[in-house]
Amino acid sequence: MDRDAILGAAESFARDVLTGESSGHDWWHIQRVRSLARTIAEAERADVFICELAALLHDIADPKISGDWETGLARVRDWLAVHDVPGDASERVIEIIATISFAGGSKPVPRTLEGRVVQDADRLDAIGAIGIARAFAYGGAHGRVLYDPEVAPRGTMTAEEYRGHQTPTVNHFYEKLLSLKERMNTEYARRLADHRHQVMQAFLDEFYAEWDGLR
Ligand code: ADP
Ligand code: NI
Repeated sequence: MDRDAILGAAESFARDVLTGESSGHDWWHIQRVRSLARTIAEAERADVFICELAALLHDIADPKISGDWETGLARVRDWLAVHDVPGDASERVIEIIATISFAGGSKPVPRTLEGRVVQDADRLDAIGAIGIARAFAYGGAHGRVLYDPEVAPRGTMTAEEYRGHQTPTVNHFYEKLLSLKERMNTEYARRLADHRHQVMQAFLDEFYAEWDGLR
């Protein structure tokens, strides 16, 4: 298979597995991350094929989709083998997928430029207007309140704490989303993140003003 055919097949695979997923990892998230990964890869002179392929497959291995990491990564590895993706490309994609997921902020910076690009693309989709929409969709799917002025945001936490608590959705901005701007790996993504960050800040200012009946 040539590269376009592989990307087309990966697109169908991700679409089949993730269509209708309601925790914020739906198919259109994948499509957006792929588009961002391509844009950033071109600007940063990374390998565009590897970035797009890793972006398309990046959430298949997620425990929320495949049960646990081991099963999820095996599923991606099998898919790559069946589609005759050359060994080195396959290893690069697997390494990227295994290292980019955010779990309480403890994961290291990806070793390769391509890993950094895909991680930036995934994180960018968690901020800005799309990020706001995703956060409230996730909160709704998990039965969380929009905001509770009596519940303070949490500081540093373990992966279990990150997943476990019934935090109000507005707190998620302080626990994760507003910190992502500083965590961008590439210059190009940092510029996009700056703008998205301002959008979230403006949203929160407006939210509190409306909450207090001031506007
Ligand atoms: P990743 O895809 O990096 O593993 P998550 O699964 O933590 O990220 O999050 C997927 C989406 O759901 C993101 O947009 C994230 O901001 C949102 N999300 C995760 N946890 C919460 C939460 N407690 N409240 C609101 N949104 C959340
Ligand atoms: Ni993702």
